[in-house]
Parts: sequence; C-alpha cells; structure tokens
Amino acid sequence: MHCEQKLAKGLYWIGGDDKRLGFFEGCHPVPDGMSYNNYLLLDEKVVLFDTIDRAVEERFFETLEYLLDGRKIDYIIVSHMEPDHSATLGAVAKAHPEAKLVGTKVCKTLIGQFFGPELEARTMVVGDGDSLSTGTHTLAFATAPMVHWPEVMVTYDVEDKILFSADAFGSFGGLDGKLFDDMYDFEDELLDEMRRYYANIVGKYGTQVNELLDKMDTLDVRMICPLHGAIIRDNIELIKAKYRTWASYEPEDEAVVIAYASVYGGTRDVAEKLAFKLSDAGIHDLALFDLSMTDPSYVLADAFRASNIVLASVTFNAGVFPKMRELVDCFVDHNLRRRRFSFIQNGSWGPIAGKKMMEAVEAIPEHEIVGDLFTIKSRMTDEQDGELDKLAQAIVDSIRHPEEPIMADVSHVAPEPTPIVGAVKPRVAPPSVEPVRTKGGVPIAPGMEDKVTHESEAPIQEPEQGKTKVIQIWRCTFCGYQAEVPKGTDMDTFVCPVCLKVGPGQFILVREKMVPVS
Ligand code: FEO
Repeated sequence: MHCEQKLAKGLYWIGGDDKRLGFFEGCHPVPDGMSYNNYLLLDEKVVLFDTIDRAVEERFFETLEYLLDGRKIDYIIVSHMEPDHSATLGAVAKAHPEAKLVGTKVCKTLIGQFFGPELEARTMVVGDGDSLSTGTHTLAFATAPMVHWPEVMVTYDVEDKILFSADAFGSFGGLDGKLFDDMYDFEDELLDEMRRYYANIVGKYGTQVNELLDKMDTLDVRMICPLHGAIIRDNIELIKAKYRTWASYEPEDEAVVIAYASVYGGTRDVAEKLAFKLSDAGIHDLALFDLSMTDPSYVLADAFRASNIVLASVTFNAGVFPKMRELVDCFVDHNLRRRRFSFIQNGSWGPIAGKKMMEAVEAIPEHEIVGDLFTIKSRMTDEQDGELDKLAQAIVDSIRHPEEPIMADVSHVAPEPTPIVGAVKPRVAPPSVEPVRTKGGVPIAPGMEDKVTHESEAPIQEPEQGKTKVIQIWRCTFCGYQAEVPKGTDMDTFVCPVCLKVGPGQFILVREKMVPVS
C-alpha cells in the first residue's frame, strides 16, 4: 500500500512511524515511538530527500514507486548518513541506477564506508553556496556539520521557501497521523519531546547549531521539514528562538531540577525535604527525579530548561551511585554549561559521593556552585534542619529576577552568517565565540590554566624514565572530540577524526595525565 501526504505542488512526505521501537539509537527511550520523515519532489527532475530506517522500509518503497509511476529518480539528496535515514540508501540506489547521490564531501566518504566505492563514485559533492535546479525549483545547500554528524547538510527550496533541516528541529515520538505542528498544542504536546531530542542528540554541539541558525537568519523560511517529528509551519520563530536558547546553553527558566540516587530512602528523603523547603519559599518551577526510575535523557532535557540543578547521591562502592554517575557524565558529555549546581551526599561510614560529583562537574565550563555540600550519614537528623534551610536559602538567593542578567555576559556573538542562497564563501573554521586562552603559547581549555604545562615551563610531574609517560588530552574546538595523544604530538597538523578539521588552534589542551609505559 502507499501512504503519502502532499506538502506543496509536486512535494510529498513519504515517511512512517515505528511504534515498536523501545530505544532510539539503542539508548534513548521512546515510549511514543519514532517518526522517520522523507520527502519526494516531482519536478522536471525527480528528487528524493533521504531514504529511511529499515523498520518502515516496506511501505516507503511501495509509496515511492506509486508516486514515481514509472519515472526515474534524478537526485537522491543525502542530508545525513546515519542509518535511521540511510539504511535503505543502497537499495534505492540499486533500484534507480541513474540517480545521482548529492551530499557533502564528508558525506561522500561515509557513503563509501557504508556502501562501497560504487555508490561513493555516484556521489556529487556540494557545499555552502552550491545549488541545483530541478526545473521550476532551485535547491540551495548549506552544510551543518555536527548537527548531528559531520556530514550533515540542509537544503532550502528557494521557490517554496521550505527548509529540509535534517536532524535539526526533530523530535522523539511518532506522528500518529498528524503531520504539521498546527495539528498539536505546540507547547503542551510537542515542545518537551523536541527539547529532549535536541538535548540528547545535538545538545553537545551548541556552537554548530548557532551557526546553522545564523545561516537560517538569512532566509525566508515558511516551512521546516525535519527528518523526525512534525513539519513546522506555524511555530517557526518560536522553535528558532528555543534552539537559539538551547544552543547558547542559557536556561529557559529560573527553575530547580533535583535529581537523587537513593538505595534505602535516606537520600531521597533529604531531596524531598529540600523540594518542600524551596516550594515553601515560593519556587514552584521545581522537578524531582528518582534516577532509579527516570532515564537520564529526561533529566538532561529538563536540565537544559532549568537554571539550578541539585544532585543528591548515596555513596556507593566508595564513589557515586551508578545512576547518578551516568547522569553527571551525561551533563559533562552534553556540555551543559551555565548552570548552578548544589550537592547532597549520603554515606553511612565514608561519604564521598559529593566530592566526586563536584570533581566531575568541574569539567563543565561556566558552572556555578550554590551553597555548601550537605552531608548525611544514613539518615538526616533533626539537628540538620537548619543546615538544609541554609542550602534552600542559597538556592532561593541564586534565582534571578527576570530583569537581572543570567550569570556573566552569555549573549551569543553571531558570526557573519554564510548566506545559503548567494555567493559561495570560502569554507573556514568557525570563529570561536569565546576568546581562546593560552598558556605557554598553547591554546588551553577554560579553567585549565593551572592544570596543564608546556615545554617552556617546569612540568607538573616529570615522567620516571621507562616507567610512565605523559599523555595529553586535547579537545577539538569544532566538534568537541577529545584526542589522547603522547606529549609532543604536533597538534597543528593533527586531523580531527570526527569533523576532519585541522590547523593551528583547532585543538585546545585540556589536561595531562601520567600513564604506565606498557
Ligand atoms: Fe536522525 Fe542523526 O539521525
């Protein structure tokens, strides 16, 4: 059977929902399933925008052939090579051997990796400023590296003012037969899962998302067609504003998220009591998560929204409870900056979870610690009530009034955008929003001034000859990839294996460590 929806003259949605999927990408729960969108343009030339996940391939192929009605595909635009969109690319390309594949330079390489040299050779490379005429439509391309993989690009239909946005503006959840955002209550039914999708899928890459938004600002976009979730035509400015906020890591709301990891209830009870104290003090935008019951993807999403985060963990195996460790790693991995953290720990004989959590949070730039570490041994005592009051008060005091700026200057400094439609600009590494800090002439990560050394200075710790060596950890300023290399590696010529950027200043030194020589 065929199942399509008409979006504009000659343009059809031909996607589908997978309602049996438990975990998207094997890790994010999707209780409402997942939608996979792709699109077919029947102009003088025929253009297929991406293929589809194997879970819904049968109907996709039937719908595709029904709409083609014997016509051949001229171009398959490959916005993104992740297999939730490209798993069936090989089969489509085989059925339509005349079709040219269209993608970025990195995309061409990935096509070769996934499908071999024949498909790679059929790929036409495009980039910023390039366009393709299909007869009555002009399709203009813009790269969007790391939103969500390095090869991603978006396509703008100049005539219909439609942006095919790849993973950007996507969502978890099936469509359930409602294709457009105006068929939902946007804020009540769509926004939470769009935020959870954003935070977990592209939340790490705020700089790159901001660059895409800058490019979009040069366009008149009337419809956004993402690869997942509802097509947006009624809330374009609202969702762009949300994306700008999320990409800049600014909290949306002055709100408190309390996440606790508790075994027998002692830690839970403190977390709940703190929640009541905050509520009594007038803070009602408050969420309490039991990490044994709630997946970190939901907590991360709410943490992208809220200004304050309280982490409460029992000590476990002389460290942090595994569920809390997973959450803190999730915050660090997704670069959740500009948040205020408070900590509660429990330990019947050796409480250490708080110290470990605080050490882990140190890796997050621009964080703020609010209040003192609150410690209980097994159970909170009545004598500690005043101390918990103090922590609650510190959190209340940290909550900004609407007219106050949130922390330091967090305004996004928009670089000169690359117009999607217009002259080709040279492809250069994006300007960093933050000034680059250096030590000994080497670019280093913020806050690491005292934690790294350079040849020109006395090293922190000389390796003992033959027993240990110094390993340096460098972070790519573009995609965030962390490379562990022996000290002395020439990072000016080191090619990032993820985003393929290279050049002086491309990597910043994060830290050094000693490792045994094997
Ligand atoms: Fe929807 Fe990054 O794949």
